[in-house]
Amino acid sequence: MIELAPLPLPTSADPSILRDFGREVKGVRLGALSPEDFGQIQGALYKHSVLLFRDVELTLEEQYSLTKAFDPEAENYGHGNNKVDNSKQSILRSVIKSIPRVPQVQLVGNGTIYDHEGIPEVVLKHPSHTTFHATHVSREDSEKGFTRFYRWHMDAALYQYAPPKVTTLYGLRVPEGGGQIIRYDDGTGDELSAPLATTAFVSGKIMFDILPPELKSLAVRSRAKYALHPFVWMSRARASPTGLGMESEGLELTPSELPPWDESKQKLYPMVWKNPGTGELHLQVHPCAVAEVLVDPLPEGSKHEGALYAAGAHLKDLKEIRDLLQRMQRPGIAPKLVYPHDWKEKDLMLFHNRGVIHTAVGTLNADQVRVFHQCNLAASDDPAGPTMKDVTRWA
Ligand SMILES: [Fe+2]
Repeated sequence: MIELAPLPLPTSADPSILRDFGREVKGVRLGALSPEDFGQIQGALYKHSVLLFRDVELTLEEQYSLTKAFDPEAENYGHGNNKVDNSKQSILRSVIKSIPRVPQVQLVGNGTIYDHEGIPEVVLKHPSHTTFHATHVSREDSEKGFTRFYRWHMDAALYQYAPPKVTTLYGLRVPEGGGQIIRYDDGTGDELSAPLATTAFVSGKIMFDILPPELKSLAVRSRAKYALHPFVWMSRARASPTGLGMESEGLELTPSELPPWDESKQKLYPMVWKNPGTGELHLQVHPCAVAEVLVDPLPEGSKHEGALYAAGAHLKDLKEIRDLLQRMQRPGIAPKLVYPHDWKEKDLMLFHNRGVIHTAVGTLNADQVRVFHQCNLAASDDPAGPTMKDVTRWA
């Protein structure tokens, strides 16, 4: 019998807003789930967005099967099998390594790992904001324990492959050490205490729910057009200090600098995605990768006061797009809305990748070894946007 318990929230979190966010699942063996247990877990995932399982023993094959159970027709890793490693320019290349025996499962972590699942030796690097943000926490402050979010994202190639429905993240070795203080460095003074090398999550549903009416109206009318080969396109560009989007410095690659591309593989997705389990709306945008925004006009008969882009729009100016996304998404990563997971060895986090965004956090030294297995699969379908009824309600 499956038992659901609330996740332990940090004191920084607002327990009333986060009351439905996250659950610990007890009383199951993940490698051998009955169809009934799986059904309950799937229902709980769509309702609570993030599920934690503790003391998990899971082979690569079992992790792949568990992930695939949420989308049985999915076959390839979310970025295509081995594709991440092959594209030399991709900014994901240094942090994700496919495991040969089950290439849909990726090895992520930090430090030098020996003889792991058929890999004789590999050097892993925990992603650090210093390799991605335009500005950095000073060495002095870093030594005092200050750090930043790395990059808020959903797990998705956003080109050719549809965004995975779920991700499983399995902590095999977790570095020991005191917590760090995440600084937002965006002029707000916001800070958040977090465990060392946490994975931080926020809910796309809450991100939508807390928006003022004019931004909800805009969100349900808008679609994000993602760049061609987005992770190559942004490889020279630099992120803003919260890790939620990019600075606009004109550093993106031009189309002629990109690997061969095919416009039919480019992704155009609604900004708001409908939860297949609950019908709720989640604001789901990968802010770093958006190249254009298409806004539908207000629906006929709508008398929305103060509506933005009431007549519709096609935004191509990156600064304008990013300022707008910042207004829509930044409230949703306020310290009180963030769940920073305190990893213990053998924890498995299962998250609704189409319902949350997440980020790596922190700075690790080479001798702080971290070994995780991550799996997500390019989905067999595209996410559903808001229905006509949703648009009429919120536009
Ligand atoms: Fe991720």
